[in-house]
Amino acid sequence: MLTVAVLISGTGSNLRALLDAAADPSFPARIVVVGADRQADGFAHAEHYGIPTFMVPFREFESREDWGDELLAQLDVWQPDLVVLSGLMRLLPAAVVDAWAPRLINTHPAYLPEFPGAHGVRDALAAGATETGASVIVVDGGVDTGPILAQERVPVLPADTEHTLHDRIKPVERRLLIDVVRRVATGDLDLTAIA
Ligand code: GAR
Repeated sequence: MLTVAVLISGTGSNLRALLDAAADPSFPARIVVVGADRQADGFAHAEHYGIPTFMVPFREFESREDWGDELLAQLDVWQPDLVVLSGLMRLLPAAVVDAWAPRLINTHPAYLPEFPGAHGVRDALAAGATETGASVIVVDGGVDTGPILAQERVPVLPADTEHTLHDRIKPVERRLLIDVVRRVATGDLDLTAIA
């Protein structure tokens, strides 16, 4: 059984979908802990399933590196097989990436390498794109530059706002994320052979 830590910053709707999938006994992975860089609303989903949480509040650390060291210490407690960034809106310092990659994956609301960064949905709209998408990648030292594990196109509709477009992208992200975690767990997807 693959053990997974999920890191979030916000509402955790993608986390919720992964938790729901993992609640099925036939799913080959278990979420063992949910962490965040702040008091995230998404903790409620972990609590719903009785899954432990931890918070490493970014703003309380002197530097990104110090924050990363505490994040590493927390992950060490749980020793997951895989770490999933599911809406963690912080760049990880190199020490965290070096310690966990390639067992460190991220979901992103755009068709990478298009529109990387913190505002993938907004940037696609601002560019006048007629289609965008969702991607699941291995985290590397860059901003959303790691090897792509799964991705799918999502059309941009003329009346879309950032909110409506993101709402249509998220179900695609969830499906891709659940599928990637399942494939890693079954051995269909060997992250060490990719990154
Ligand atoms: C997701 O769309 C995720 O891809 C995005 O934040 C959202 C979190 O939603 N992450 C990034 O943009 C990272 N660059 P959620 O909290 O409802 O799961």
